[in-house]
Amino acid sequence: MDEFKKQAYELLLKNRKRHGDFQYTIPSPDNYPYQWLWDSCFHAIVLSYFSPEDAKKELLSLISKQFENGMIPHMIYWGEHKPFGDENITIDWGKEDTSSITQPPMLAYAALSIYRKDHDKKFLSQIYPSIKRFYNYLLKDRDPRGHHLIGIINPDESGEDNSPRFDIPLGNLPPQHSISENIERRLKLVEMNYKTCNFDAPFCMKNFFWVKDVPFNAIFVANLDALVEISKITENEEDTLYYNHQKSAISRAMRDLMFEDGIYWSTYGKEYVKIKVKTWAMFAALFAKLYTDEEAENLISGHLLNANEFWPKFPVSTVAMDEPSFNPFGFWRGPTWTATNWFVYKGLLNYSKTDIANKIKESSLSLVEKSGFREYYDPKTGEGHGTTNFTWGTLILDMN
Ligand code: GLC
Repeated sequence: MDEFKKQAYELLLKNRKRHGDFQYTIPSPDNYPYQWLWDSCFHAIVLSYFSPEDAKKELLSLISKQFENGMIPHMIYWGEHKPFGDENITIDWGKEDTSSITQPPMLAYAALSIYRKDHDKKFLSQIYPSIKRFYNYLLKDRDPRGHHLIGIINPDESGEDNSPRFDIPLGNLPPQHSISENIERRLKLVEMNYKTCNFDAPFCMKNFFWVKDVPFNAIFVANLDALVEISKITENEEDTLYYNHQKSAISRAMRDLMFEDGIYWSTYGKEYVKIKVKTWAMFAALFAKLYTDEEAENLISGHLLNANEFWPKFPVSTVAMDEPSFNPFGFWRGPTWTATNWFVYKGLLNYSKTDIANKIKESSLSLVEKSGFREYYDPKTGEGHGTTNFTWGTLILDMN
């Protein structure tokens, strides 16, 4: 682990960038030249072990580009807007120096992780208003009907761009289709957002892509927990009550509208139709402790540890291997990713499933040892795919 720790820190330093007074880390030098929202939260969590000051800079640069309405964009170019990704595309998001969609809200969790290392109350108080504005934006603009589920306006907001969970909401894409077909539909949504919707998220959700995703909402709930904690530390008692209340309301709505047959499913459309595609999303709900002990037990034995579904040689595959959409090197359509493993690891600890969690940690470590810090891995062979020098593997350090 010491050698791994050294390599992880070296990678984060290698991918570090500065822009004026700001400092941030790019996910990978070959393919991802900007700052990304949830990536930076992951970086902050890991950096807090080495240098809380550098971890804070990661979050400060993020909030420096917060929109007036409170949204934090999922990409900040920092003057580097050039083609990126395997497809070498430059996307026009309708904004000058950022994208115009968001990503899973890990900000409060990341801020609290830093505080737990250095107990710097001043930093928490400094960043608290921005954190609040971000979560308040999601509570308001992404839940226009007040049903207590947070909506996303584009699959990319989930962080799992081409996950099969979005095939139906994208207009009934078949389980097997080309990446270019998928990208075309998502780019259409990007264009809708600024051309047709004029960045009006509720309008855009209602008309073009109406999805309530399980990981996004589970991450939101777990982050409300962190926000409650932060509000106590910064002595904002009224907020403690408010966010606790929101946490219960969203957990209840998730139970009412997403839960069936012992599993939480993402939904789409006005009527919350469940998208019954088996992906790691069902385990994301463990991260927010949304299952009872008995439900978690059944979920783990029936699905997680099932060698035909999520437990290949290198778990956890992001899509069940018996799904028609499963593709072991299809980006978010099957491969093992270290960040999703981190969420499942933390979720298992919520239920004291330390042995299984440790297996996930060991398997994640062996993937990096075998194939390096890659973007994602073939869950059956462990072969690395996608970009290299990718930072997410550093999260293994926080599997404790
Ligand atoms: C890909 C991932 C997304 C991530 C980004 C940068 O688009 O799907 O989750 O934030 O790369 O690493």
